[in-house]
Amino acid sequence: MSDSLKISFAPLSSPATGLVVVLVGTDLALPKTAAALLAPAKGLFERAAGEDGFKGKTGAFLDILAPEKVAASRILAAGVGKPEDWKELDVVRLGGAICARLPDAAAEAAVILETAAGPLTAEQAADVALGLRLRFYAFDRYKTKKKDVEEGPKKRSVTLLVADEKAARKAFKAREAIADGVDLARDLVNEPPNVLFPVEFARRASALSRLGVDVEILGEKEMKKLGMGALLAVGQGSARDSQVVVMRWDGGKDGEAPVCLVGKGVSFDSGGISLKPGEGMQDMKGDMGGAAAVVGAMHALAARKARVNVVGLIGLVENMPDGNAYRPGDILTSMSGQTIEMINTDAEGRLVLADVLWYAKGRFKPKVMVNLATLTGAIMVALGQEHAGLFSNNDDLAKGLTEAGLATGEKVWRMPLTPEYDKLMDSQFADMKNAGGRYGGAITAAQFLQRFVGDTPWAHLDVAGTAMNSTKGDLNRSWGAGWGVRLLDRLVADGYER
Ligand code: BES
Ligand code: MN
Ligand code: ZN
Repeated sequence: MSDSLKISFAPLSSPATGLVVVLVGTDLALPKTAAALLAPAKGLFERAAGEDGFKGKTGAFLDILAPEKVAASRILAAGVGKPEDWKELDVVRLGGAICARLPDAAAEAAVILETAAGPLTAEQAADVALGLRLRFYAFDRYKTKKKDVEEGPKKRSVTLLVADEKAARKAFKAREAIADGVDLARDLVNEPPNVLFPVEFARRASALSRLGVDVEILGEKEMKKLGMGALLAVGQGSARDSQVVVMRWDGGKDGEAPVCLVGKGVSFDSGGISLKPGEGMQDMKGDMGGAAAVVGAMHALAARKARVNVVGLIGLVENMPDGNAYRPGDILTSMSGQTIEMINTDAEGRLVLADVLWYAKGRFKPKVMVNLATLTGAIMVALGQEHAGLFSNNDDLAKGLTEAGLATGEKVWRMPLTPEYDKLMDSQFADMKNAGGRYGGAITAAQFLQRFVGDTPWAHLDVAGTAMNSTKGDLNRSWGAGWGVRLLDRLVADGYER
């Protein structure tokens, strides 16, 4: 059984029966429509709030069951704090919080989108809907026991009562595209590595062609011809073929340089011959979180018909130990011609990205290039799981990403990139080593990537701490977070769409 959430919009004046959610701020004043609904039960809300200690604070809820004389069978008051101080993200989070509180018994619910100050705008209504969608997602494809499935969400229908339902519906269209992109990215991250290996990942990315995305897949033969010696080495110990997928969305001006989004897609990272310890290794199915975010963002941009040229490129490999695997000591020649001495086969993501970044730069001459990668454990030591690490050679791009992060809640924190770190990668035998040692591990990884982007304005997001198994907030409770889809969509919307 798969969960589904149906969201519809109706006018504020529609009759509200069943479960009705109303928004109440810290002034405890009932919005007009809610006041009218509750009028027959005089003083009920005030008495219930008093009994409960409900003060209308953000995140607080007051549940009034089976109220007498009221058309609704259940009233759920959602605390909304001070609506006059709301930022966009507060409204999205409100949707998430409401979704979390919808009781299992109520398959249908109506939410009156009005505060004491008046109805929410169409954009705000659409943001509530986005929050509902983001919070609703659950991955239970492989749960066959009914009990487990029943604990999760099921079929739900939520009607949002708004001032202008046509405008709200229209505003929700773009949000829906984004939510679908996030769900897609979460699915990809959550899928097990026996199911989602490089060829299968590429196949799923191909489905974007239905949205008008031009999808091209490079197999190992093509990559060999291109000289992608770094990427191919990572995959050579795997029984699964490596792939590069190129996804083009041409919604902008003809011939205008594109934004390139590049993702690390290691479908499983065992570490290779430099094998990882067994404990927690199962989490390395999520080592393609960067690639998943790129595919999710391409979905969002295409589905909402973004007026911009964007190319998504993902490098898909499986890093396995095997008689044919690459070894510490191997020297690889990357597509750029630069040679790399292997110190640790577990520092594989940078090898994959080295070739895909170089290829993207050469073929597409991008206006800007942003890559996402679950690149280092060191970034989690530095930043925990609340921020992704941001490394950039361009202040404007860094600013754009920082602002997009604050707007969406997918926050980034800028880290240094300076040449002093380069010496940690000096090799006795080749142009560089693939690992710089324990100190500054996230920084040396970024310095490594920088050697493959030339002067292209570029940013690297190290998402090892945020793409999976991260803090569960109002907007996500899935292991695979789909992190980065909303960030990239916002970066493009605010910075590059015409
Ligand atoms: N995929 C890992 C990084 C990672 C660790 C992601 C934990 C998510 C959670 C990456 O390929 C890796 O193994 N990095 C090494 C680099 C080291 C060998 C230089 C690391 O961080 O230890
Ligand atoms: Mn690794
Ligand atoms: Zn990895």
